[in-house]
Order: sequence, then C-alpha cells, then structure tokens
Amino acid sequence: MSISHPVTSPNSKLSQAAAQAELYLNQHFENALEELKQLAKIPSVSFAGFDPAHVRKSAEATAVLLKKVGFENVEVLNFEDAHPYVYADYLKAGPDAPTALLYAHHDVQPAGRDELWLTPAFTPTLKEGPGGARLYGRGTADDKAGILVHAAALEAFLKTSGSCPLNLKVVIEGEEEIGSGHLHSFLKAYAKKLQADVIILTDTANFDCGKPALTIALRGLIGVDVEVRALTKAVHSGMWGGPVPDPVVALAKVLASLVDEDGRIAVPGIREMVTPLTEEEIERMKKIPFEEKLFREQVGMVQGAKLLTEGPNPIAQLWRFPSLTITAIQASERKEAANRINDTAWARVTIRTAPGMDAPKTAALLKAHMEKVVPWGLEISVTGGEHGSGAWAIDPTGPAFEAAKIAMTKGYGEEPLMIGCGGSIPFVQPFAEALGGVPALLIGVEDPYTNAHGENESLLVSDLRKACVSQIHLFAEIAERLRPARALQKEVP
Ligand code: BES
Ligand code: MN
Repeated sequence: MSISHPVTSPNSKLSQAAAQAELYLNQHFENALEELKQLAKIPSVSFAGFDPAHVRKSAEATAVLLKKVGFENVEVLNFEDAHPYVYADYLKAGPDAPTALLYAHHDVQPAGRDELWLTPAFTPTLKEGPGGARLYGRGTADDKAGILVHAAALEAFLKTSGSCPLNLKVVIEGEEEIGSGHLHSFLKAYAKKLQADVIILTDTANFDCGKPALTIALRGLIGVDVEVRALTKAVHSGMWGGPVPDPVVALAKVLASLVDEDGRIAVPGIREMVTPLTEEEIERMKKIPFEEKLFREQVGMVQGAKLLTEGPNPIAQLWRFPSLTITAIQASERKEAANRINDTAWARVTIRTAPGMDAPKTAALLKAHMEKVVPWGLEISVTGGEHGSGAWAIDPTGPAFEAAKIAMTKGYGEEPLMIGCGGSIPFVQPFAEALGGVPALLIGVEDPYTNAHGENESLLVSDLRKACVSQIHLFAEIAERLRPARALQKEVP
C-alpha cells in the first residue's frame, strides 16, 4: 500500500525524489523483508562461549547487502580482538550536502530457552501477533531491522533518482550486546573517517505499535560478578549442615541487602548521585501517557505483583531512575540439586545508571557494600564494573530534530513522542562526542511486544515499512535543513 503526502517542503525537487523513493520502497518492501530474513537466519551471538564465526558471517552478509543496495567502500573492519564491524559509505552527494552517519548493530543476544520459542529462534517466521503480522526470530527487531532501514532507504533513492540527496557513512557494530568493549579504540582509529553532521541510530523502540518515538535519553549500565565461597569443596549437607555456613544462603542475604522494601537500590551513596528532577521535568513526565493495565499486560507481570514505583510516572522512571537486576545466579543446577552444601555461589549484579550517576563510582560502591555485608566471615570476590557507561540525554531542538519530527510524521502518519529509554547503547555518548557534539537521532522498530533479549522476539512488519519510509523522508529533510559543517571538508581540496 502506498501513502501519499502533501508536498509541504519548499524544495520540490527533493520532495519529489523522496516521494518516488517512497513509492519504490512500498512496491519492493517484500524484498527488504526477505533480506532481513536472510540476515536473521545467522545466529550472530556475540557473547563469549558462542561461535564467533557466526558473527563474522553476519558481518559479511551485512557487507554484501550494503554493497548490493549501492553503498561504496564497503569494508568488514577487523581490529584487535573485536567482533567485526562493517563500514560503508555513499559520498556522491558532494561537499555541499550534509553527511549522516548511520548506526545499527548486527550482533544479537543468545536465544535463551529453546523450549519457550514457539517458532525456532533462527528461522525467522511471519505470524500474526500484537499490531498485525510480525516477524518472529532472534535479532529480527534488535537490531537487524535497523540495518535494513538504512539499506532500504538508500536503495529506494538510487533506484528512482539515481542519487541520494545527502552523504552517508554507515557503521554496523558487532559487539553492542556485550557492551561495545572496543568502542574507544574503534573511535580512536576511525573517528576522523566518520566525521558527519548528524548521527542516525536505528536501535530503539517506538512508544507502541504504529506510535513512533524519538528516543532522547538512555540509561547507562554497570555490571559486576560476585562469588561467595564457604568451602574448598562441596560436602554432604546432612553430615555437615548446621555448623557449616551455606554460601548460597550467604549470597542470598548479600543480594537481598541491595534493595529496600520497595525495590529501590539501598546501597549507600548510589541513589544520592541521581540528579534531582526539576519541576519542569516532573510536569513533562506527567504528560507521558501511562496506563497501568496496559503496562502490566505488555510486560507480562503476574497478577498481584506490585509495581515498584519511583518518581512521577513509571514510564519516566525507566530512564530517569536507576534500577538493579540480577541477571544470573548459580550454585548448582536443578538437575543436580543434590543434598550437599555447595562450595561457592555466584551471581551477576547489574545496575542501570540514571543521569548524575558516575558509572565507575556506582560499581565501586556496590563492590564495597557487598564486601562489607557478607555474613559469617565467608570469602567474597567482586569483579568487573570497570567498563560501565553513564546515562545519556540530548536536547531535542535544532534542525536535525525538526527533520526527524517531519520525517516520522510522514512515515507513520502521526507525530513522534519524545521518550527516554531504560536500556543502553554504549556507542551513543562517546560517538557523538568524538564527532564534535553532533546531534544523535535515535529511532527504531522495537515496540512493547518485541520482547528483545527474551524468547519469541518479534518485529511488527508494518512498522518496519513505516520506519523505512520515515528514513527516506529523513534523508530528504536533513539534506534540506542541515548545512554541511565538517564532514567532507578533509576530503575536499
Ligand atoms: N536495542 C537495545 C537498546 C534498547 C533497549 C532500545 C530497550 C530500546 C529499548 C540494545 O541493543 C541493548 O540491548 N543494549 C544493551 C547494552 C548493554 C550490553 C551495555 C542493553 O541495554 O542491555
Ligand atoms: Mn539493539
């Protein structure tokens, strides 16, 4: 189905090109979906312990796709021991046109529990779901769809006008889901090559199905591993239990001390760091639509579970307040729940950092607290936490945001909401800074039913199409509204 829009832009040549590109996109959308399926078949899990060959294969498939749609200088970047990133560009718009740096990531989370997937994780499958037809599979939304949005928009311009109105550089990362450990050396090596006037990241969520959002704040993340040891070996729990402390109970006590009765972080010094809300922020947050029933349904909370509310609105709480999650815990295994006292107990503790929180300091406070409260003189070791990231936020004003608002309204038929996001994208802050503080536009095709990181991840197909249409208009609107400041100056004599 094609949607036509009134020509509002003063530059009618540009809007005509965008309208033709939109038409092309709508007529060829099935091909884009097919390309996405091919990418999502590759199990490019970046976590340690998973075969890195798949991540390489996914980088190569991404490179092939970018080349096919008309990007040039396509390179699979190998540096240090990082999973490969992919770089490509289109610089034919010339020095008088602005340059956008496009970002997405091609690595994915592990699939999780096979038995809970209704369709196989790496066999992308179309099925009806919330909002209409959805593509189920790991990475369909997070974030292989993001790659498609960039690729489909350029292809639509090249296939219709034979040219694109702005210069493009694209980076598709291979290690986002494990915290972008090489991002600083990546930026050191490539920041100059990546100079641009604006960054467009397609890795965030819409407010709801068909309800577009621009993400203007992210939380950061720190994580530590904690291990409590009571014994040099596991022993019979009947022969020794009683006088001998159980490390699992000890760890449970340590973990329980991390939050108060209402689930708020109770580690001294952490919440104190959070920048207090201003009156203005509180007023703005109260306007964010929040319906408790819908929220509970979307996330799948069990009946009777209490919402642990902090701040003026649970939606705003997600990006404006910190939260603590224990992502894994291990002592023995269910099938080996033998009558013994385990020698050690282990957990990973993560904290989403909010504005004002210093990430390394948060990790240090967490570590010191756990070391202090471990009971019964047991050994405790807390490691990691050095590579955390802080929260990020941007003032959504200026021509890039104007362009995004207009483009998304054209793509979705309604204005985008400005929202924060409780998740993290480590690249955003250092990336924007390395490029001299250029604006970063965070858009994406996840939605409250996507279930990224969980089993049965899915992408709403109609929103992928709308996101591609928005991206076409975004290219045109940026070409019209942004003056090239830095991007191609180095290359032009
Ligand atoms: N796409 C997500 C970020 C996101 C989360 C967007 C929620 C919208 C809603 C991204 O791929 C992600 O999951 N990032 C990691 C980063 C971490 C490993 C530092 C995260 O937030 O856990
Ligand atoms: Mn992602």
